[in-house]
Amino acid sequence: MGKGKKVDSKEVGLEIGLIIFKYFFHEEHLHYGYWTEGLPRDLAHLVQAQENYSNFLISQIPAGVTKILDVGCGVGRLASKLINLGYKVDGVLPSAILVNHARNLLGDKSHIFECTFEELRTDNRYDLILFSESFQYVNLEKALENSGKLLNEGGHLLISDFFKTEAAGESPIGGGHKLVKFYDLVSRYPLKNLKDLDITRETAPTLNLANDLLSNVGHPIWNLIINYLTSNYPYLSKFLQWKYRNKIAKINRIYFSGALNAENFATFKSYRLLLYKEAKA
Ligand SMILES: C[S@@+](CC[C@H](N)C(=O)[O-])C[C@H]1O[C@@H](n2cnc3c(N)ncnc32)[C@H](O)[C@@H]1O
Repeated sequence: MGKGKKVDSKEVGLEIGLIIFKYFFHEEHLHYGYWTEGLPRDLAHLVQAQENYSNFLISQIPAGVTKILDVGCGVGRLASKLINLGYKVDGVLPSAILVNHARNLLGDKSHIFECTFEELRTDNRYDLILFSESFQYVNLEKALENSGKLLNEGGHLLISDFFKTEAAGESPIGGGHKLVKFYDLVSRYPLKNLKDLDITRETAPTLNLANDLLSNVGHPIWNLIINYLTSNYPYLSKFLQWKYRNKIAKINRIYFSGALNAENFATFKSYRLLLYKEAKA
């Protein structure tokens, strides 16, 4: 990380998620998971759901693709799978910690660019640019612009991520570009839509697991900390609770109100698998 560069809170969130996931499941996925019909919706099957997701995504890669750019490749697990299947894969990551993970896993089989996708400049060209749950983090215009520059003629753009719906009210779940804005913008680029699958139903169950964990583990721990501070450091605690009242209210509203669930996800988000083909005249 460059001197003076501020640490991004979303990146910290991803890295915390990774530490917890690795400790409990001995796995290193950073995506929701794909809950097929009949797969029990519980923590014991989360890793299976995440494997299903990788397999589902791989099954959507068009024939003829060899060179892939995995944007926001996390720890490199998907890239590693793709390499084992015979694809040539490079990655892009702005997070120094994740870059180390990915480089350790992939070695010299892959080049990992340490920057945001928006900043990426290279002479390399790809048959497919893949955004697996990383599209919501990039600037829409810049991402589409840069994809056009980095794709080989007739190349593909594969996006798997959730977007915001037009549902009324405030979503308790953050993240995602507005789907209508994305459709409007992408229609102005020389990209032909080949697939647009709604996989909200298959991805949403992960939210109920997160909600369960927050209610049964996160909330009691949070309350214990607050009670400890209030009883042992009453003045400091009163001051901190006043100073950070908005942040505390937000934490309670988002994480501990039970609203972070599959039902709200399906109302406020639309998880799409989108495949486009570069179609320059
Ligand atoms: C939710 S994780 C998804 C990781 C992986 N693609 C997967 O499906 O498991 C989001 C990834 O996007 C990356 N990311 C965030 N902002 C980015 C940006 N502007 N350009 C490229 N990658 C970005 C993060 O570092 C992280 O690796």
